[in-house]
Amino acid sequence: METFQSLLAKKLSDALKAADLPDAGELTPASDPRFGDYQINAALVLGKQRGENPRVLAEKIVAHFDAGDLCEPPGVAGPGFINFALRPGAVGEKTMEVLRDERLGVTETESPRRIVIDFGSPNAAKPMHVGHIRSTLLGDALARIAQFLGHEVIRDNHIGDWGTQFGMVIWGWKNLLDRQALQRNPLAEIVRIYKETNHRASNEPGVREACRQELIKLQAGDKENLDIWNECVAFSMQDFERTYKVLDIHYDIQCGESFYHDRLPGVVERLLKGGIAEISEGAVVVFFRDVPELADKPLIIRKRDGGFNYATTDIATIDYRVNDLKADAIWYVVGAPQTLHFKQIFEIGRREGYRADLCHIVFGNVLGEDRKLMKTRSGENVPLRELLEEACRRARKIIDEKNPDLGEDEKNDIAATIGIGAVKYADLLQYRTTDYIFSWDKMLSLHGNTAPYLQNAYVRIRSIFRKAGNPPLKIGRLIFADAAEINLAKRLCQFAEIVPQVLNGFRPNILANYLFELANSFHTFYEACPVLKSEEPARSSRLALCDLTARVLQRGLDLLGIKVPERM
Ligand code: ARG
Repeated sequence: METFQSLLAKKLSDALKAADLPDAGELTPASDPRFGDYQINAALVLGKQRGENPRVLAEKIVAHFDAGDLCEPPGVAGPGFINFALRPGAVGEKTMEVLRDERLGVTETESPRRIVIDFGSPNAAKPMHVGHIRSTLLGDALARIAQFLGHEVIRDNHIGDWGTQFGMVIWGWKNLLDRQALQRNPLAEIVRIYKETNHRASNEPGVREACRQELIKLQAGDKENLDIWNECVAFSMQDFERTYKVLDIHYDIQCGESFYHDRLPGVVERLLKGGIAEISEGAVVVFFRDVPELADKPLIIRKRDGGFNYATTDIATIDYRVNDLKADAIWYVVGAPQTLHFKQIFEIGRREGYRADLCHIVFGNVLGEDRKLMKTRSGENVPLRELLEEACRRARKIIDEKNPDLGEDEKNDIAATIGIGAVKYADLLQYRTTDYIFSWDKMLSLHGNTAPYLQNAYVRIRSIFRKAGNPPLKIGRLIFADAAEINLAKRLCQFAEIVPQVLNGFRPNILANYLFELANSFHTFYEACPVLKSEEPARSSRLALCDLTARVLQRGLDLLGIKVPERM
């Protein structure tokens, strides 16, 4: 379906052609609604390029512009902006089109790609903590949006299940394990022995060496160590699954680091043969002498003792994703500290001749109210599950106050929807690369740019329909008697323009902010325009606007991984 933006862009392109000018500038929503709905800076850009007066150029473009029924004859403002104000008739028709469309106007891409999204990717034998939130939520939202836009998405959990931590876990398992504690809470016990071993290894060289030996035995396929490893990974996976269930996160594949273990010798050999890697002081190393920023940052892919590392695994991983999974693109949603790692890996991929589009999608940190990295009182990382439980507890309090008569089960369900939604939204609302401060009060507020506010707008609409007895929608045509009605309709039509933009720069915050604006437009409308008490045909027209608002809110939140309750 064409959007207003695409329709205007076409007309503009025609006008520029007719005026003997090249395409230029960017068509954007108007910065000030008093000047119209959209604006373009084409004349300013062309003026600069050609050393001509932009206002004169703007007048020339406008003179060739055929507005048709779409908008009023465009005006020129300021130094040469061209403004477009949509005609109410065009808004009414487009809104009807969107109403009838299950996809709410969002067109599927014309160039679908197969995209592997590597997100979440926690480490086995360690609990997931608040630091994993951003990768998990961001990756999930991008996956949902890419899929909705018609891409083929493969969600991959690249679990750290083969790292050096297992040398310690195995030594701890053999020397410190409390079997009863393991039965009660397996992951907690594994984490305990890991931490204690880690502590001892840093003070006792003997323990450090013993851990190293356990790791070597594991990697050489020692049966006892493999069994312990298997058991630890299984316990970790169960623990992750519980959290994914709460968060409604799903993976298509979970090829952890161990999946690539057998391929590592082949990777090193191939890179040596291809002249991409060389032997240096007994290790196999890739140098990036011709890449200025990496020139003094060689990468070891086989250590002197024959061991492989995280980087070797990632080279094998690209190979698998490109050659076996046939990925056109791989998106790595991983924190900024791994920037150098991915630059090196991508450069190797380039040298190997992979044509897939490789992106490292970084993000900022989650901070506590003290603006430092979020930690528990004892200075540890905040375990993710505890945080999510706290979110539900706090949301439950809100429901107890707001709607005390609901049944116990329903209250708990709604609390989960609101609590988890609040955590997700607070994260996705942020500009991806900035740090943000985690604040319960802010994220759970019913008034402000929060999930509960948006969910409440949805609930309000559902209650209008319940009150009306859920009548089938009668939508002949929309009536715009009040400015709030046409403003809401225009907002609704923008959904189709916003969703594809999220993937330019991977910014779910654009969608979050749009939904907030939509809820605001709805509240303005709701205050100005009675719905159920109004006469026909206004009543049906307003009900249609309500219905569409609810559907856009629901779909938009769903694309962010957030559910809506029917009441709250
Ligand atoms: N397990 C790693 C960590 O916690 C993240 C893995 C990211 N993905 C990758 N292909 N390296 O830091």
